[in-house]
Amino acid sequence: AIDIEKLRGATGAITIDPGYKNTGSCKSAITFLDGEEGILRYRGYAIEDLADKANFLEVSYLLVFGELPTSAQLEKFENDIRKYTLVNEEMKTILEGFPRTAHPMGVLSALTSALTAFNPKSVNVENEKEMYEAVCKTMGKFLVIATWTFRRRMGYPLNYYDNTKGYVDNFMRLMFELPTGPYKMDSKVVAALDKLFILHADHEQNCSTSTVRIVGSSHAGLFASISAGVSALWGPLHGGANQAVLEMLQEIHDNGGDVAKFVLKAKDKDDPFRLMGFGHRVYKNFDPRATIIKKAADDVLTALGVDDPLLDIAKQLEKVALEDEYFKARNLYPNVDFYSGIIYRAMGIPVEMFTVLFAIGRLPGWIAQWKEMRTSKEPIGRPRQVYTGSPSRAFKNIQDR
Ligand code: ACO
Repeated sequence: AIDIEKLRGATGAITIDPGYKNTGSCKSAITFLDGEEGILRYRGYAIEDLADKANFLEVSYLLVFGELPTSAQLEKFENDIRKYTLVNEEMKTILEGFPRTAHPMGVLSALTSALTAFNPKSVNVENEKEMYEAVCKTMGKFLVIATWTFRRRMGYPLNYYDNTKGYVDNFMRLMFELPTGPYKMDSKVVAALDKLFILHADHEQNCSTSTVRIVGSSHAGLFASISAGVSALWGPLHGGANQAVLEMLQEIHDNGGDVAKFVLKAKDKDDPFRLMGFGHRVYKNFDPRATIIKKAADDVLTALGVDDPLLDIAKQLEKVALEDEYFKARNLYPNVDFYSGIIYRAMGIPVEMFTVLFAIGRLPGWIAQWKEMRTSKEPIGRPRQVYTGSPSRAFKNIQDR
């Protein structure tokens, strides 16, 4: 029954759906997700096929422009992104203003927003050429500043994009190459990272993507909207979970590897602890990305000859949780973040950078969703509420309070 008293001040009927669990915010032709069946497709293509057969820039093109590129289109896209990888020198001053201890996600969000100062012209979304350039510019500059957040933290001099190398290859060089000598690139690492970026590239109306769309719905620009998306992704219930998973696995390890104890703790409703990397708002069967990542974790660690005790703990934890009635009853399965951190760690990527990697992977999805929202002329996002505060009150002068 509707509590009329609670609806005071409301005009007309309002649907309350905290967390928007059953509310569609838009129509979208980008990503299809069936949480019951564990299906994920970008523009109709199965995630398994894309992760296996395509590369990250190919998938980015598909998400943003709707079709898989031809070789000529892909080559042009890669070249056009390269044209925009130089970042304004004054951005360095902004970067240097941050303490070295600042979290890379906070710095990334701020730097992305700062890009608006150096690219003030708003994009005419109806103009294909302008939109295409905005896409390339965002893909180019974001990758570079993302790695700069790490260089600042480490106190390393900043690196510049190498036009003779690929996008993902460049990520590793931008991060790790030092003036002391060339960075020894491992093609297995680049291939695995490429796959991880594909798996993170879009996921329909998740928290950060919805943020990008709603900020953009006020006609705020692409950089401003993406900066907001980075902030939304940072939280431990969303992209920040990949860092939280690794920290949790480390804690279990440091406490003698007693997996069952932590499963028990996660079930205790008086304890705020949750099994990080478990559960998903939409997947209630399994997360297809987690299946691919679990296998990739095995492959990458074997190929790199890394024996990580945290991988064994993760596997044990998954086994114990999947057999547990609490987790079964609530359909809680490992999500995309559960094994990704183990791979990043094996690649030598520090834990505070994990969510930044997620952001690089998710970037084409954010761009695609922003573009779709603007070209389909969606109205400004503006949810309603049910007011639960005081009824009308007479104002009291300060001396009478
Ligand atoms: N550990 C223990 N219990 C859990 C967990 C978990 N990881 N996740 C959900 N539950 C329980 C809840 O306590 C709740 O129990 P109850 O019905 O007895 O109250 C039930 O399962 C349903 O959980 P909700 O929080 O209502 O589910 P929701 O869809 O709102 O949340 C979320 C989904 C945020 C992902 C949640 O499962 C969670 O916090 N997981 C851990 C963080 C994480 O891994 N986030 C990454 C998600 S994937 C991504 O963003 C890339």
